[in-house]
Amino acid sequence: MSPQGHFLTLFIILAFFSSCFGSYQEDPLDPIAYSTKSKLTVQDKKYFETESFGLTASTLSTSPQLVNVDDFGAKGDGGDDTEAFKKAWSEACSSEDSVLVVPKNRNYYLKPITFSGPCKSNFTMKISGTIKASPRRSDYEEDTRHWIVFENLQNFRVEGGGIINGNGRKWWQNSCKVDKTQPCKHAPTAVTFLGCDNLRVSNLWIQNAQQMHLTFQQCVNVMALNLVVTAPGNSPNTDGIHVTETQNIHIQNSVIRTVGGSENIQATDITCGPGHGISIGSLGKDSSSDFVSNVMVNRARLSGTTNGLRIKTWQGGSGYAKNIVFQNVVMHNVSNPIIIDQYYCDQDDPCSEESSAVKISNVAYKNIEGTSASDEAINIKCSKSVPCQEILLQDVKLGLQGDGSVEASCESVKLISKGSVTPQCS
Ligand SMILES: *[C@@H]1O[C@H](CO)[C@@H](O)[C@H](O)[C@H]1NC(C)=O
Ligand SMILES: *[C@@H]1O[C@H](CO)[C@@H](O)[C@H](O)[C@H]1NC(C)=O
Repeated sequence: MSPQGHFLTLFIILAFFSSCFGSYQEDPLDPIAYSTKSKLTVQDKKYFETESFGLTASTLSTSPQLVNVDDFGAKGDGGDDTEAFKKAWSEACSSEDSVLVVPKNRNYYLKPITFSGPCKSNFTMKISGTIKASPRRSDYEEDTRHWIVFENLQNFRVEGGGIINGNGRKWWQNSCKVDKTQPCKHAPTAVTFLGCDNLRVSNLWIQNAQQMHLTFQQCVNVMALNLVVTAPGNSPNTDGIHVTETQNIHIQNSVIRTVGGSENIQATDITCGPGHGISIGSLGKDSSSDFVSNVMVNRARLSGTTNGLRIKTWQGGSGYAKNIVFQNVVMHNVSNPIIIDQYYCDQDDPCSEESSAVKISNVAYKNIEGTSASDEAINIKCSKSVPCQEILLQDVKLGLQGDGSVEASCESVKLISKGSVTPQCS
């Protein structure tokens, strides 16, 4: 199920959630503590509660058959509910016009599980309660890369205002980034959509993933909206949303990460911080070819993040990242507000300079304003062998958080400036 090597790398991280929408200090093993003590603001809550917890008029109007996991033996009381969910899925998937219901006020524990299509008709899974991952790592021996997988579905919707909790603490403790004596291994992605066509995922809170929270892979026509993705700031490698080999995805009001081999990505109204900000990349790792095009990030607010708008590529890769627009972005105390790094190197051994690189072209930063936590507000470091082309800064106004001034550093790039741009490259 893993993507082809050259599609592997990735993305736009729209935000590394750690604290987009609240920060969580409590023990991540206790879901109740989480959902009641975490500090979501009223506005944040609206993101995943805008649909009623019950059935909406639209689902009722077609008088769907309700398939309730409780009727298949799910208890939601701390025991394993995997078999009940499998039976309920199989019933809902083979019925005409059904809604699979996961009731609220319960915690359903699931081992790794795959919900497969194709199904008999369009259908909706309504998650109003909490679904929690089995914390036993031995349950994942067969496939350590996935917890919940939805595959081969057409016209499928998941919604409901509920919580999907990856229960990641044991995985984080054993991550090689936390415990240097451990080998580096992949931990499961909490929720994966694979090979879906016409998919809508909305109004869910996905939290504490073992590693990645949400992946869309080989999907066409995806609408993802009102998703809240959170994990504690100190959890290692827990990325938000990845998109890989997927076409036509529209992500709204959410926190995200998306990936290579992807085109036509739009992300609007993203709020984030503290955390890692919005990144495209890293691309071109291990001499791979990556292709990312037609990405639009519109209306983002970043506060206290380590990066603002970042594109990062490794030395030695190939392919391209092109036709990318970041616009209407407000930053507050962001450490690297605008950054292109073609010498990205996240490994113990130093990375040598290579003659190839992922080519970056046609990237626009329009109407970007706010404050930088460092005195280098713009840092564009393009490959010497494959310089960046057509990089536009239009109406950019970045100052230092506090007193003082900021600078821009630009290498192997000829910037195009329009409107008023500060700081300017020296
Ligand atoms: C299934 O979903 C598609 C796409 O949303 C829609 O065009 C079609 O009418 C739906 N079919 C039924 C039977 O509701
Ligand atoms: C700005 O960010 C820096 C570094 O992240 C931090 O030390 C500082 O307290 C922040 N300042 C404000 C006003 O938030």
